Amino acid sequence: MKIGILTSGGDCPGLNAVIRGSVLKGIKAYDHTFVGFRDGWRGVVAGDAIQLPRETVRGISKQGGTILGTSRTNPFDGPCGGADNIRATLNTLGVDALIAIGGEGTLTAAKRLSQEGLKIVGIPKTVDNDLAATDYTFGFDTAVEIATEAIDRLRTTGESHHRCMVAEVMGRHAGWIALHAGMASGAHAILIPEQRVDADQIAAWVQQAQDRGRAPLVVVAEGFIEHGHTAAHSERGLDTFGRPRLGGIADKIALEIESRTGIETRTTVLGHIQRGGVPSAFDRVLATRLGMAAVEAIAHGQWGTMVSLKGTAIESVHFDEALGRLKTVPQERWDEAKFLFG
Ligand code: F6P
Repeated sequence: MKIGILTSGGDCPGLNAVIRGSVLKGIKAYDHTFVGFRDGWRGVVAGDAIQLPRETVRGISKQGGTILGTSRTNPFDGPCGGADNIRATLNTLGVDALIAIGGEGTLTAAKRLSQEGLKIVGIPKTVDNDLAATDYTFGFDTAVEIATEAIDRLRTTGESHHRCMVAEVMGRHAGWIALHAGMASGAHAILIPEQRVDADQIAAWVQQAQDRGRAPLVVVAEGFIEHGHTAAHSERGLDTFGRPRLGGIADKIALEIESRTGIETRTTVLGHIQRGGVPSAFDRVLATRLGMAAVEAIAHGQWGTMVSLKGTAIESVHFDEALGRLKTVPQERWDEAKFLFG
């Protein structure tokens, strides 16, 4: 069988480990051959593929990014997009099945293509950890590690200047990165999209920390929704899937803090730093296992499914179960964390 692999949507650490896991398992267990589509769905739509013999995946698990490149291309857009055109392109290349590695946007497109008869197995990836039907996505552990290290650094400069430091982390509409990095770094307030907190409460937590002689530390998720607002702060338009680009809420929070407490406040938006560099060992292992499991799913003809982590086991779940709802931070995780604030 000839299998095409694509990495699509925002990159994250661990993508190369998946590619390696799939290629090694496929070659060794089934004598498959592999091609890699360049830049996600763009490469599939354009028929832009490279051969992936074993040598091309040698030693790549520890490399950040993706050797195949990625994009936020929607495979249904453009004159060569859509299921019929893609089927014809795959036939021309002799590709029998696809492994689509991506987050919500990528896998939703994969689901639609698979409903139209294409043979696809999905692999979940995203630093946001917001995909339902998998306990963790690879990339998340690394992002939390990077964010925690950065926030620890903000803490020391904040302490020197007796300032309040506000760190903004990614996560889109889920507060996982903020919750984990905030808890790990001992933040005095963690603000996540799932919970509304008014500015007076945020200021009170900051003030309490300062009153104890601490330099207040606030971690805010980019998708946090300010009290009295109905949507997350977005000032950079929509992405190709029509979703608002987030970012910049930290500055608004800092102004509210300063005006209420008078404490000098600085903001840092960690941004794409959280997606760069080498994957953690946890992410490498998870990604490798998912990559191998996708080849098994193909061997069993489990089209229209996504491999996922359940506890410590890797299972296959149907796209219907995995998509359409986000895995957000549950109430009990917030209630648990709140005891640490202030
Ligand atoms: O979904 C991953 C993610 O990093 C989000 O946390 C963030 O909102 C978005 O992608 C940023 O997208 P881009 O890389 O297109 O700026």
